[in-house]
Amino acid sequence: MIRIAVFASGNGTNAENTIKYFQNSTIAHVVLVLSNNKNAKVLERANNLGVSTVTFNKHDFLTSKSVETLLKDQADFVVLAGFLWRIPIGIIESFPNKIVNIHPALLPKYGGKGMYGAHVHQAVKKNKETESGITIHFVNEKYDDGNIIFQKSFEIPANFSVKDIAEEIHKLEQAHFPVIIEKVLKKII
Ligand code: GAR
Repeated sequence: MIRIAVFASGNGTNAENTIKYFQNSTIAHVVLVLSNNKNAKVLERANNLGVSTVTFNKHDFLTSKSVETLLKDQADFVVLAGFLWRIPIGIIESFPNKIVNIHPALLPKYGGKGMYGAHVHQAVKKNKETESGITIHFVNEKYDDGNIIFQKSFEIPANFSVKDIAEEIHKLEQAHFPVIIEKVLKKII
């Protein structure tokens, strides 16, 4: 059984969807949710579903490497679901091609530091883009830069608000993220 650890910084709808998707799976389970934000809603979502949670600070993540030690001990695969910090090289090297991220835009557009959540949709709207979408990619030591695994786009009607774009992205994320994670996992078992 592949043990999945999910990192999330905020609301956690993708984390929750991933936990639920793998609840009855015979190949993988979400065993741990980790957050840099002790007030994140994702912690409540995970607890309600019986998944262990851990919170950590920059020292744990970058200096003492206690998060890396915990991951190596407890997880085989890592999912970033709305996690806002860059992953340190030690964790990247310990999980080669075993860390995936979801990004709410069509990378390489609208990626990089500061491009997360609503900021992305606001920039897309401001630039009058006629399409947006989601990207699922492997994670390397740069923001939003690893090899792309999957993209799904949609056309943005001219009258769409930032909220409308966010809702469309949310639907795509819910429909595709766990399914693509499962496809990646099937290649490593
Ligand atoms: C999702 O839209 C995800 O794509 C995005 O954060 C949101 C988290 O929502 N990730 C990024 O912007 C990463 N750069 P959630 O907490 O409800 O899953």
